[in-house]
Amino acid sequence: MAYETLIVDVEDHVCVIKLNRPEALNALNKQLLEELAEALEDSQKNDKVRCIVLTGSEKAFAAGADIKMMQEKSFSEVFLEDMFTSESERIGRIRKPIIAAVSGYALGGGCELAMMCDFIICSDTAKFGQPEINLGVSAGLGGTQRLTRYVGKSKAMEMNLTGRLMEADEAERCGLVSRVVPVKKLLDEALSAALKISEKSMLTTMAVKEMVNRAHEMPLAEGLRFERRIFHSLFSTEDQKEGMAAFSEKRDAQFRDK
Ligand code: CAA
Repeated sequence: MAYETLIVDVEDHVCVIKLNRPEALNALNKQLLEELAEALEDSQKNDKVRCIVLTGSEKAFAAGADIKMMQEKSFSEVFLEDMFTSESERIGRIRKPIIAAVSGYALGGGCELAMMCDFIICSDTAKFGQPEINLGVSAGLGGTQRLTRYVGKSKAMEMNLTGRLMEADEAERCGLVSRVVPVKKLLDEALSAALKISEKSMLTTMAVKEMVNRAHEMPLAEGLRFERRIFHSLFSTEDQKEGMAAFSEKRDAQFRDK
């Protein structure tokens, strides 16, 4: 499938999706969000793909939702079309792991899109922020909700109320990103993490994604029960027998997703 706002490439079990609207710093318009949801759904269906990397350009992962697209819209229009809901829900339903590789600006919807991924590796040039307040609106794709869960109330409140941008080292310190790497190595580092994930049993990687995400949605006691039952159920797989046999026999495991 050819896309106008994305470059999609599948190699070695990893699908790399590059946001590609350089003229607008990858601002998220309806076309880009729909194409992204479609590309992710294709990756979900493609048996060759075991992990996904979502990235942008060196200057911008994405500078937010497209302001020019939204400027003239009224409340009734955005409410009735339910702006951003179906695309973000489609992205949220992807079960394969998604790594965000962020360089440059990840602002507004760009920061929110990175947070929809399973973890974020960023370059030392990355800048995160929720500057919607400067436009007379609030975040609308998770910037008041996911950011608060990632970095806590105080920082999330400050960023959403002042529009202050956060640099890479602060983002790593407060747990928004898993790692900061030199900008020239960003894609290699993200690909190497994706390749490591691709070598595991997909039964397990998809289950683990679901389990960690439950930590944000459930009380601790329920989450622990959910985790224990999934852990138990993984003993019904051939991959559990293979993984543990490989450890005992001092060899690499050959997982078959069974
Ligand atoms: N929407 C539409 N176009 C955008 C854009 C956006 N979010 N961000 C950048 N662009 C466009 C600019 O208008 C400009 O286009 P023209 O050359 O046609 O004028 C082009 O991208 C390059 O941008 P700049 O010239 O501004 O580049 P810069 O290096 O001087 O500044 C920047 C970079 C600081 C990121 C600045 O572009 C900026 O502040 N962008 C807007 C950031 C923002 O407010 N994001 C939140 C959007 S609202 C949102 O996301 C809501 C939500 O939660 C869902």
